[in-house]
Amino acid sequence: MRKILICGGSGQLGSDCCQVLQRSHDVYSLSPKELDITNPLDVDKMIRRFVPDIILNCAAYTNVDACETEKEPAWKVNVEGPKNLASGVEKHGGQLIHISTDFLFDGRKKPPEPYLEDDEPNPLSCYGRTKLEGEMAVRQATASHMILRTAWLYGVKGRNFLKTMLKLALKDPQKEIKVINDQLGSPTWSYRLALQIDKLIEVNGRGAYHASSEGYCTWYELACYFLEKMGVPHSLIPCTTEEYPTPATRPRNSILENRRLKEAGIHLMKYWQDDLDQFVSVFREQLIGEVKEGK
Ligand SMILES: NC(=O)c1ccc[n+]([C@@H]2O[C@H](COP(=O)([O-])OP(=O)(O)OC[C@H]3O[C@@H](n4cnc5c(N)ncnc54)[C@H](OP(=O)(O)O)[C@@H]3O)[C@@H](O)[C@H]2O)c1
Repeated sequence: MRKILICGGSGQLGSDCCQVLQRSHDVYSLSPKELDITNPLDVDKMIRRFVPDIILNCAAYTNVDACETEKEPAWKVNVEGPKNLASGVEKHGGQLIHISTDFLFDGRKKPPEPYLEDDEPNPLSCYGRTKLEGEMAVRQATASHMILRTAWLYGVKGRNFLKTMLKLALKDPQKEIKVINDQLGSPTWSYRLALQIDKLIEVNGRGAYHASSEGYCTWYELACYFLEKMGVPHSLIPCTTEEYPTPATRPRNSILENRRLKEAGIHLMKYWQDDLDQFVSVFREQLIGEVKEGK
């Protein structure tokens, strides 16, 4: 049993990690109100108070488009935050597990060729640049780290693409909604990633790992698959990236290969369709209820 401090514990991944890790560890999950990771003094104080074996950083500025204009706050949370946590680990001991992203890569590999852990990052967006700088700050501050890059996260807690699609389809099933059909990635269930993190803790993982679902699809294919599993009628129409401009540029190919997890024989990630089937079977009523209640 380890003592684990989760930062960003109220977020999508943070809440699933809390649920999974507390089955076998002593877990303290902190919301941003309880610990703002951008404040080095508060971080230091919290580490001295809890003396964790592991700090799991699920906190981040995750609004990819907002990062293009909110550069300063995004930098603080995604770069200075992890740097503070890593410096704390270096000073007081323990290990930092830091979560990173597929958006570090430029997506220029020809699909379905995936990105490996040692491929050269080249982010296209401000969000991607802050997450890359965050990784670099962690590596520089302490050797006692693990970095997990994941992709296209969804879960029952917080905002995500699937919930947005559900809300739009339930509001007006006849209304045509354009969804991008030329960006590829691997939709990843935050609960499955939490189980993978638990496994990595058990085997004392070190360094950088890719951890996303097996298989891949486009945003359009994902939305159709999800709404059809949910039994919700819709009028989605596929479109190109050019037909749906966004402030941040996203990679066309976001597919990650979980090579290090496989080589170590500790790979727990599933095919994205299998996880989505399970997610829908467990949470269908709750997801629809939340939309109806206007949450
Ligand atoms: N979502 C994706 O599709 C995706 C894909 C690849 C990688 N990732 C990475 O996965 C990780 C988890 O993402 P997620 O989807 O769980 O995001 P999330 O639901 O947005 O959770 C992030 C959490 O961080 C908190 N936070 C923000 N600023 C903070 C601060 N200064 N101090 C402490 N906490 C702070 C947020 O609180 P508030 O909500 O109150 O701001 C939120 O609870 C992130 O590192 C993200 O970059 C996500």
